Order: sequence, then structure tokens, then C-alpha cells
Amino acid sequence: MLNSLAGPTIVGTLFETASPDDLKAQYCGVHMWREAIQQVLISEAELHCRIQALGRVIATDYQGRELVFVAVLKGALMFSADLARAVDLPLTIDYIALSSYGNRHVSSGQVHILKDLSESITNKHVLIVEDIVDTGISLRYLWDHLMSHHPADLNVCALLDKRARRRVELPIKYAGFDVPDAFVVGYGLDYQQRYRNLPFIGILHPEVLTPEP
Ligand code: IMP
Repeated sequence: MLNSLAGPTIVGTLFETASPDDLKAQYCGVHMWREAIQQVLISEAELHCRIQALGRVIATDYQGRELVFVAVLKGALMFSADLARAVDLPLTIDYIALSSYGNRHVSSGQVHILKDLSESITNKHVLIVEDIVDTGISLRYLWDHLMSHHPADLNVCALLDKRARRRVELPIKYAGFDVPDAFVVGYGLDYQQRYRNLPFIGILHPEVLTPEP
């Protein structure tokens, strides 16, 4: 049975009895992909409500300033689109793509730029729009990269904050939700490029994750 959009999914029995390979075949396939979600952590309604509130605060803070969103692909795709519509100000949106995870679920610790800015941010009021800050390594790299373009100011808006795993600290001026130390997917966040189109944030069943060497 497919998950409902709002409630948690209990799939414990199935996950306990099948082998890891069987599980991957069943739950990463096209038919039962939603069954790989162990728990809905943040519902669609909660996301909507929080993003509207963040938008109102950002609109107040940036009143009268030339605001540029620099959203990080692909994870912040949904978030940046919804947040931009919640900020009642003229703004521009640019996208940058970084790579640190590849198809893994643990950061390699090595970040590089896959797609750079399209427009100049010099003397602009720049807001980094991130899906999740985990170790903080990607954000640190991006921060330094953007600062080298001399924006008027630079701040961070992250939908999710996974503090337990932080290795590099940077101020997150606007944060949506704290999340526990678990691998989360949905609303833009992926595992091996899947699950981005779930409308909620869910915890992926650990059995689905390929063990890290
Ligand atoms: P960091 O460099 O460890 O902070 O990782 C930042 C990036 O890793 C995020 O922008 C995400 O793309 C990805 N990431 C970190 N944790 C998760 C997670 O739980 N689910 C999906 N992607 C994640």
C-alpha cells in the first residue's frame, strides 16, 4: 500500500524479514518506492507554514535592498521556488551546483562547483538558500566562493539543520527545522537522485542505504 502524504509509514516487519538485496530490489524499484520511507518527519503542511513564516521575516529584513537568492542545486530546488514566492519583494534567483555526496549518503568532504553563478553578485544583498546543513563543509566552501565576489552582504537560509554532525560552524540566519542525525529525503533532497519529488521530508529506512566502506 502506498503511503498517505501526511502520516508515518510502518514498514518494520517487511524490513526485518527480507535480505538487504531483496529490500533494495523491492523498495527502490518503481512500484514501491514510497515504502522506503520509514517515517514522515515534516509534513507538507508543516513545510508550507514554516516557509511562509520565513518568507515574511526575510521580506521585512530585506525591505529596500536588492536581494539575490543563490540557491544550491539540486536539493534546494523546491525550497527556493516556494520561498521566493513567500517573499513579497522584488528579487532575483541564481542557481549554483555543488558536489560533495555523489551517490553516497556520507559527505566525501571534498566540494567542487558543478555549475557556477550566471549573474554578478558584486554589491548585491545575497542570501544562500540551502536544503540542509549537515557537516557544514559545503556551506563553508560556498560562503568563501561567494565572498570572493564581494557581495554587499551574505546570509544563509537553510530549510534543515542537522546539528549533530556539524564539523564547520557558520551562522545560519534563517533556519527552517532542526532534524536528527538520520538520512532524510523528499522536498528536493535525494538519495541516489531519487525521492526529491516527495512532497514531505521523510527518514529513509536505513536498510535502503548502501553501507559506506
Ligand atoms: P554538508 O557539506 O555535509 O553540510 O552537506 C551538505 C549537502 O549534503 C546538502 O546540501 C545535501 O545536498 C547533502 N545532504 C546532507 N545531509 C543529507 C540528508 O540527510 N539527505 C540528503 N542529502 C543530504
